[in-house]
Amino acid sequence: MSDYTLQNFIQDCEAEVSAHLKLADTVRAIVPLMHRLISGTRVFLKPEHYQSEPDHYARNLVYAAESSGLSLYTLVWLPGQWTPVHDHGTWGVVGVIEGQLEEQSYMRADPDQSSERHTDIELHPGGLALLSPNSVSTFVPNPDHIHKTGCPEDLPRCVSLHLYGRTMSSFYSYDVAGGTRNLVEAAHNETRLGESE
Ligand SMILES: [Fe+2]
Repeated sequence: MSDYTLQNFIQDCEAEVSAHLKLADTVRAIVPLMHRLISGTRVFLKPEHYQSEPDHYARNLVYAAESSGLSLYTLVWLPGQWTPVHDHGTWGVVGVIEGQLEEQSYMRADPDQSSERHTDIELHPGGLALLSPNSVSTFVPNPDHIHKTGCPEDLPRCVSLHLYGRTMSSFYSYDVAGGTRNLVEAAHNETRLGESE
C-alpha cells in the first residue's frame, strides 16, 4: 500500500505556504494534508517521538525545514499535563494521534492589544474542545490564538502532532489572574528525522 510519507507532507505544505497570501487559506489547505498524514501508517514516528516527561508535557522535534521554516513536533501529554495559557506568534495545524486532547481557548478583552504591551491583559475563557484521534485543529494570527491544551487527569496519555509556520523556540505565556504575559523559551527533545526518511 502506498503511504503518504513525511517528505510528501512537508513538500505539499511548503507548496501551500507559497500558494496563499492569507494564513487562513494556508491552514485550510493543510488540514486535509495533516489528516491524511495522521490517518496513514505513521511509520515516520519513531519510539523517541513518543518520549514523555514525568513532570511536564514533552515536545519532541520531528522535522525542521530550514528553507521554509516549517517545524513539526510531537507533543506527549501524560494524564493531567497541560501547557500554560499561551499564544504562538505564527499559524499552526494540530493532528491528534492518540488519546484525547483538550483545548481551552481564551479571548482578549482589553482595548489596546498592541504587540508591545505585556500588562493589563484581560482574558476571558472561550470555547472548549475535546479532540479525538485523527481530529485536526488550526490557529492563525493576528490576533494570535490564545489557549491552553492538555490531557485531562482521568484519561490515558495523549500524543499530538503539531505543524507550525516557524521554529517554535519561544512563545508568550500568560498569567490570566495577573493580566501579564512573558516570552518563554520552549524546550524540546532533539530527535528530528533526516531528509531521507
Ligand atoms: Fe498551542
